[in-house]
Amino acid sequence: MTTTILAGGVLLLAVLVGWSTRKHGDRTVAFVTALFVVAIAAQALLGYWFPPATTTGRYVRWICILVQGLAIIRLLGVALFRVVLPAARVVNPRIVEDVVVATGSVVWAGIWLKENGFNVTGLLATSAVVTAVIGLSLQDTLGNILGGVAIQFDRSIRVGDWLQLDDVVGRVVEIRWRHTSLETRDWETLVVPNSVLVRNRFRVIGLRQGQPVQQRRTVEFPVDFRYSPTQVIEAVESALRSQPIRAVAADPQPACLLLAFEDSFARYGVRYWLTNLNGEDAIDSEVRTHIYFALRRAGIPLSIPAQAVFLTQDTAERRASKAQREITERVAALRSIELFTPLQPEELERLAPRLVPTPFRAGEVIARQGERADCLFLLISGNAHVIVESHGSASKVAELGAGSFFGEMGLMTGEPRSATVAAASDVACLRLDKRAFEEILQDRPAIAEEIAQVLAQRKTELDMVVESLDSTARAERLSTTRQDILRRVRQFFAESD
Ligand code: CMP
Repeated sequence: MTTTILAGGVLLLAVLVGWSTRKHGDRTVAFVTALFVVAIAAQALLGYWFPPATTTGRYVRWICILVQGLAIIRLLGVALFRVVLPAARVVNPRIVEDVVVATGSVVWAGIWLKENGFNVTGLLATSAVVTAVIGLSLQDTLGNILGGVAIQFDRSIRVGDWLQLDDVVGRVVEIRWRHTSLETRDWETLVVPNSVLVRNRFRVIGLRQGQPVQQRRTVEFPVDFRYSPTQVIEAVESALRSQPIRAVAADPQPACLLLAFEDSFARYGVRYWLTNLNGEDAIDSEVRTHIYFALRRAGIPLSIPAQAVFLTQDTAERRASKAQREITERVAALRSIELFTPLQPEELERLAPRLVPTPFRAGEVIARQGERADCLFLLISGNAHVIVESHGSASKVAELGAGSFFGEMGLMTGEPRSATVAAASDVACLRLDKRAFEEILQDRPAIAEEIAQVLAQRKTELDMVVESLDSTARAERLSTTRQDILRRVRQFFAESD
């Protein structure tokens, strides 16, 4: 009766534990349950042939009960260390489970043998020589086991840490009796004997007392000597710090350094702190892409090896025709902008060479709402989103494509940006700065009035939609808005005189 209740309880526990650990892909519960069932069945069946009163029957019963006890201890170990403690968020390395279960099993076997009349103490004493022989032959194994226990107790390595051993880097996934397993970034598993870990020096990557886990990385790039380090560092740092980059720590900030002067170029490095230690290559690449675009925007090329030989016949005619082609394209771009309809063809031609090519990578912010700026952008290729933030929420109000322009209020009045414009794909822009436009305005101040008219018209049209103005109100609003914008344009351009 007692055996039936015990067997039922154990099987119920096995089912519950097996269900809770079904995703682990581990067969321990199945194996232990099978062992228990076999021991119970053997006890019942063999008990029939060998009654407990006989010597063989007694031994059969002892062995069956010993095995049942061992199976129950193993099952309780799994339940405690893989179900109960994880549910209570207590992280336990496997070795603790192994040690507890092994100790429990030895104690149970000792008690059971003693209960049945075996002299356990005498057995241990007389087997000392045998133990010594076995101990010597198991020296390495014991070294590994003690190493594993030492690593656990001094907490020098924990599951989840990233280790570097010689030139291999991997994340600790398991610390067992004999070995510690590391999973590398190349999808391999490295099995390291614990005695090796205890005897040798290893690095725990990204770990610093009381600090978040992050690893310092350096991404190098070459730039021609002709560009000033101040300019290079400023361009790269402002691009890397202006917005969050995936898995790059905000603190410490990414920094750009001039590392060395080489034969034909200066070697720079971006130092940044990686927060996802598994993604070093992908994030290095992300940082490199940001560097590439930042340099392109600043008009700073990456250096070309000094050995490169260029064989282009750079005649005056070739240069002139190339420049003329570019000017024609830019004039066409400027002419398509409504804001510049008041400008004469020769004024557009004067403005064209002053446009600065300004590329952005997908996701970069080109103009930020609320920031003061005094330049306008023409979108030559790619797409951009216009996003307005108000009361803490951001909404997309427009999508701009090739041929559009934005930032006109900044250029003409220096007002803070009314919206954020971000690149939706890689984009090529031409930037027109206030200084370039100023020269045209100085020569023909009347342009300001005509442009104010265009700006006022745009603004009033928007107000009409938002505020449902009728035609009389619209005419009045147009006139006051025009006066207001004209005053602000004049004031803005007078500031720099
Ligand atoms: P500016 O205010 O200088 O900077 C942000 C720019 O976003 C703004 O000029 C406009 O060019 C552009 N912008 C703002 N709102 C819209 C909108 N609703 N549709 C298209 N462009 C817009």
